[in-house]
Amino acid sequence: MFYEPNKENPFKIDPFKSLVFPRPIGWISSVSINGVANLAPYSYFNAIADEPPQVMFCSNGSSVNRKYKDSLSNILSTKEFVVNFATSETREQMNITSGDFKPDEDEFYFSKLKTKKSKLVKVPSVKNSPVNLECKLLRTIKLKSNSKKISTMIIGEVIGIYINNKFIKNNRIDSIAMRYIARMGYSEYTTIDSKFNLRRK
Ligand SMILES: Cc1cc2nc3c(=O)[nH]c(=O)nc-3n(C[C@H](O)[C@H](O)[C@H](O)COP(=O)(O)O)c2cc1C
Repeated sequence: MFYEPNKENPFKIDPFKSLVFPRPIGWISSVSINGVANLAPYSYFNAIADEPPQVMFCSNGSSVNRKYKDSLSNILSTKEFVVNFATSETREQMNITSGDFKPDEDEFYFSKLKTKKSKLVKVPSVKNSPVNLECKLLRTIKLKSNSKKISTMIIGEVIGIYINNKFIKNNRIDSIAMRYIARMGYSEYTTIDSKFNLRRK
């Protein structure tokens, strides 16, 4: 099969997200200009550079009755955010935080997740996350959109990295033990539970 997504869609549900997978989930915490904490999962997310470390995520569409999703609007105001990671253990809470909460509603409260004070940014971190990446906003990029949906890429520099010592073994990261979850298409997720080594030529 071959198709041009701008012209046709031979599937009942657009399969694009099932073709690029697994996508890591950046569980983004931010804070509003009024000091209300916010937390939401973003799977158009990844690390994009390491000297200095940089990450990006994309906010597609808006919240009900608002131009931007809360994460984007908060980050544009405060220029800071934290990337947390959802695990097998916190999957249900991650899902709760994807709900369409109002800007003055704190998803940490509704998901019963504990916060942890971050070291270098005012935004709280998710206590139960094996890793927290404290970020400063570098820039936003408006993406092409075929509809009224606003799509924006947010790029941040990671200025502080917390790693739970439990996941450091022999001076290396024990990735499998973290039980990160990642997104596939539809309502499908996967857990990273195996690995193999391949030395670079
Ligand atoms: C696993 C998962 C991944 C998601 N990835 C994205 C994404 O990459 N971009 C996006 O705009 N929305 C994504 N969403 C939807 C947002 O989490 C949802 O719109 C949320 O309400 C946004 O919250 P905010 O307004 O507090 O930023 C995702 C939802 C889930 C459950």
